[in-house]
Amino acid sequence: MRSTLSHLECSRPNCDERLAPAPARNLCPLCHSPLLARYDLDLARETLTLDALRTRTRSMWRYAEVLPDAARATRNEGEKPRGRTPPVTLGEGMTPLIHARRLGEQLGLERLYIKDEGLNPTGSFKARGLSAAVTMAKALGAPAIALPTAGNAGGAAAAYAATAGIGCVIAMPTDTPAANVIESRAFGADVHMIDGLISDCGRYIAEHAADQGWFEVSTLKEPYRIEGKKTMGYELWEEFDGALPDAIVYPTGGGVGLIGMWKAFEELGAMGLVGSARPRMISAQAEGCAPIVRAFGQGAAESEFFDNAETVAAGLRVPKALGDFLILDGIYASGGEAIAASDTELMTACGDMARLEGIFAAPEGGAGLVAVEKLAAQGRIGRDETIVLFNTGSGYKYADAWQAALAT
Ligand SMILES: Cc1ncc(COP(=O)(O)O)c(C=O)c1O
Ligand SMILES: [Zn+2]
Repeated sequence: MRSTLSHLECSRPNCDERLAPAPARNLCPLCHSPLLARYDLDLARETLTLDALRTRTRSMWRYAEVLPDAARATRNEGEKPRGRTPPVTLGEGMTPLIHARRLGEQLGLERLYIKDEGLNPTGSFKARGLSAAVTMAKALGAPAIALPTAGNAGGAAAAYAATAGIGCVIAMPTDTPAANVIESRAFGADVHMIDGLISDCGRYIAEHAADQGWFEVSTLKEPYRIEGKKTMGYELWEEFDGALPDAIVYPTGGGVGLIGMWKAFEELGAMGLVGSARPRMISAQAEGCAPIVRAFGQGAAESEFFDNAETVAAGLRVPKALGDFLILDGIYASGGEAIAASDTELMTACGDMARLEGIFAAPEGGAGLVAVEKLAAQGRIGRDETIVLFNTGSGYKYADAWQAALAT
């Protein structure tokens, strides 16, 4: 089982740019859109089977055929790759998929599941994307990675850079949850606190990256964070024994998880491993920063910058996502929806998840549960449909938000 990575391709349908994976790449040089990794799926399908997976490593790297490998990326055309570059891993992925029976009973849903991404290394699903991105950045020679973050991506980037032995530069808004700042510093990252939003942090990183020699791993500005996050889709396929759920509810900031899972389902379809039915992709956001919900309400193909973004769900405070057109594409193509929750609603939902299911969720996960509650109340998800709600992070990182919620 080997990576079948073949090339990178521009994500804009009207741009034909195609590039070799090496050297390390950021955006499409022609139109500055995100690049997507493409694989030789005919080759991948020969070995990627449910049966073969039974004996593989218990991390997201079990899906090696459809994940990047620098040894393959740097080979010459037609040449066999020499060996395999070992992934930079802390054991990410293979998170619990919990049948939420008590919560489901309350909502009239028999098959509600929670995929608890809070159990990843560094306590969030960001581990998956950064394991893949750091693996490739290190193997392709980057001395340091750099990124803006609203929270959890910083801790994950810093941890993987530490284990890879490369530098890590992080820009965070001054009101980022304290745990994210502390963990990033503990892992040895160079942390810059910026008085502004993640968009201001992104500008800071972009302005300094070239002259400082940092390789930017900002959301969708390099092609492999999506690859790591798409393994959430492969895991669902494996956990449901070759089937896919009817709906997926995903707390959306930059949208990498949603875009990644949608890509996973397309790949599984192309390999003949699933039929043509796809889960409805339901994007959950916070009312204080809901650019995707607003664009969805208008039937728009792209979002507009969301002014005065403010929410306790720090990871959802992304006023304009670089890949908004890809997120909206996935929602429309799947017959999905986009739903916003107020901060009070989402923390109340976190309380329900904790009390009824024993899951200590991040506020972002609470926003997802509010979307489930609203859809169930309106009869827009059926009692016997299989619904997977992603709790994207651990509540342990959000002590202040939890303390305030418990005090009311
Ligand atoms: C816990 C949590 N959930 C969701 C998100 C949003 O993730 P994405 O950028 O994949 O939409 C973040 C991003 O920081 C996060 O930390
Ligand atoms: Zn392009």
